[in-house]
Amino acid sequence: MLTLAIETSCDETAASIVDATHRRILSNVLYSQIKEHAAYQGVIPEVASRAHLERLPHLVEEALTQANLQPTQLDALAATTGPGLTTALLMGSTFAKTMALALGKPFLATNHIEGHALSPHLTDPNLTFPYLLLLVSGGHTQIVMVHQPGHYEMLGTTVDDAAGECFDKVGKLLGLPHPAGPAIEQLAKQGNPTTLQLPFPKNDASLDFSFSGLKTAMRDLISSLPHEAVMPAQAGTHGINQRSVPSSADIAASFQHRVSTIFAKKCGNALAQTKAPTLVAAGGVAANSAIRSALAETCAQHGATFSAPPPHLCTDNAAMIAYAAGLRHLHRLPTGTLATPVRPRWPLAEVTAA
Ligand code: KG4
Ligand code: ZN
Repeated sequence: MLTLAIETSCDETAASIVDATHRRILSNVLYSQIKEHAAYQGVIPEVASRAHLERLPHLVEEALTQANLQPTQLDALAATTGPGLTTALLMGSTFAKTMALALGKPFLATNHIEGHALSPHLTDPNLTFPYLLLLVSGGHTQIVMVHQPGHYEMLGTTVDDAAGECFDKVGKLLGLPHPAGPAIEQLAKQGNPTTLQLPFPKNDASLDFSFSGLKTAMRDLISSLPHEAVMPAQAGTHGINQRSVPSSADIAASFQHRVSTIFAKKCGNALAQTKAPTLVAAGGVAANSAIRSALAETCAQHGATFSAPPPHLCTDNAAMIAYAAGLRHLHRLPTGTLATPVRPRWPLAEVTAA
């Protein structure tokens, strides 16, 4: 089952060809629009959409070349049709629909979150259903029981902000470039994670998360510090390290540690409640090595197996879309038609009825 997929839900323009039958990635190319959005410290939908349209023809050609395939050899064309930025989704899905129409092949409308949820299968041959999923990205923080492709049971979610959003906000306060997750991880390597006592909102037996209190605590803390202490990029250092002033590296390390302990505790709760044999982490925040270590330790304590895709398949990519689309097709699940519209909001729990 050879699927060429396009992913344009946010600020990554990506194309990939995956053989879902054999779980093989034949090509996986990506253009990250970090430069385009740098001046705005966030993603501007109009800017993202224009960049998608400019880059797509070349990226799709590149995906075919790397896979050594002609378009006529493809079995289907897929694209992310939600959730995401409306105009950005329209660029990728219209491109893929046009190709499907021209080639006379099916178009598979694919949910971005389902792509993340199934992505660990691409690199972990031992992973079997069911598994517990910690899905942590820029817009989502959820604990889901993945029973089968298309069958997702929501067990817990954030009541306010997403974890990735919190990383990006803290990074902005520290003067780091957007998206700040990778930069915080780098900075944290030189810091002491026990420097700050940070709040743990919703520290209870539930599987729900809350990050707004942590975000506010970080904002209050950072804004109370001398300016030079929190501007690593300009100062060329990691902040002044006077006795009473934590360095920006200490702040990053303490914040990352707090998020890791929150994930570890909530996933521990979920493993205890469900007795699931496996925990999987996916989504951009799951690229973080400190978080992965904390989750692996929790799994060891609960006698469960831990699995996560390699970091480049945790962050947005089109291979996960091609795989999810192909797998749905193989399982005869609904995959939409050329008339399927984009859905900027499209919860994972609703994908089966797509
Ligand atoms: O899954 P993703 O690439 O896009 C969405 O679907 O949202 O996730 C993006 C989020 C951003 O908030 C980014 O800062 C965060 O993932 N992220 C990280 C790391 N790499 C990306 N957060 C922490 N540590 C990382 N290494
Ligand atoms: Zn994503």
